[in-house]
Amino acid sequence: MTHLITLISGDGIGAEVIPAARTVLEALDLPLRFQEADAGFGTFERVGDALPPATLDACAASDAILFGATSSPMAKVAGYQSPILNLRRHFDLFANLRPAVGEGVDLLIVRENTEGLYSRRERVEDGGATAIAERVITAAASERITHVACEQARARRGKLTIVHKANVLKETCGLFRRAAFGVATDYPDLAVEELLVDTAAMRLVQDPGRFDVLVTTNLFGDILSDLAAGMTGGLGMAPSANVGAGHPALFEPVHGSAPDIAGQGIADPRAAILSAAMLLDFLGYTEAASALRRATYATPHTGNTAHTARAILAQMERDGAHV
Ligand code: IPM
Ligand code: MN
Repeated sequence: MTHLITLISGDGIGAEVIPAARTVLEALDLPLRFQEADAGFGTFERVGDALPPATLDACAASDAILFGATSSPMAKVAGYQSPILNLRRHFDLFANLRPAVGEGVDLLIVRENTEGLYSRRERVEDGGATAIAERVITAAASERITHVACEQARARRGKLTIVHKANVLKETCGLFRRAAFGVATDYPDLAVEELLVDTAAMRLVQDPGRFDVLVTTNLFGDILSDLAAGMTGGLGMAPSANVGAGHPALFEPVHGSAPDIAGQGIADPRAAILSAAMLLDFLGYTEAASALRRATYATPHTGNTAHTARAILAQMERDGAHV
């Protein structure tokens, strides 16, 4: 039995960090097979589609996807849609797990990944003088994301923080809050609390050690996860998992395409490698995942993408892990 992994480098430094992560995965003695597929803005410019059908087929046939990054244009580009948002939607990868680990910080942000302000319901009125985005929150999506967060909290330190802004967004966040507390009652062993998202941001900076698992809506989770990354070594160390009900799941560094440093071979591959460790966990290779994670946290970025990947493998050997 082997597991098939689809590698999508995408744009910018994705083309550097994903090959580095592949080198590391290939060096581990695991029954993994790899295939590469195209997606991203570069792909869109080449073939007119940022997520070609062949890529979707490749992903559908695989157990897991390791995704690099894509450039997201600030303005509308006719025909272009973000391939990462489309992949999350296509495979219903509704839970975005974003751990942050550092000095005095060991927390997990569980971000709802399919709705909220990412509903794609945006429009202009008044001849362009007014712009409106619809924030869609459903009970079903709020409940399933809270289930995931509760299970994660149970496997960790047993604390859940429900993050919302129900004092202002009384309907949308009100629904999310009710649904989340409703699900949490099924987990009486957990310590459950709530925080407004602005307060959560402040407490994250002031006292990160108080957090274990946070569950929140899509855009709040997007913002708080970059904040948490900034507190723990920056985006170079921030991995993520996008999981749904089954296979495939998608793993990606949080950092994005970093066009300012792309093409120089200097990007920090550790976020991609930590994402690969999450992928290994997902496939059940938990021992290899822990060993890889330990070595990656113990290895500084050398300033060269490929060197850092090799240094992580060398660290694994020193740790006595089976490489
Ligand atoms: C992330 C990214 C994406 C998001 C962008 C690239 C669409 O910022 O994965 O956090 O907003 O979800
Ligand atoms: Mn983001």
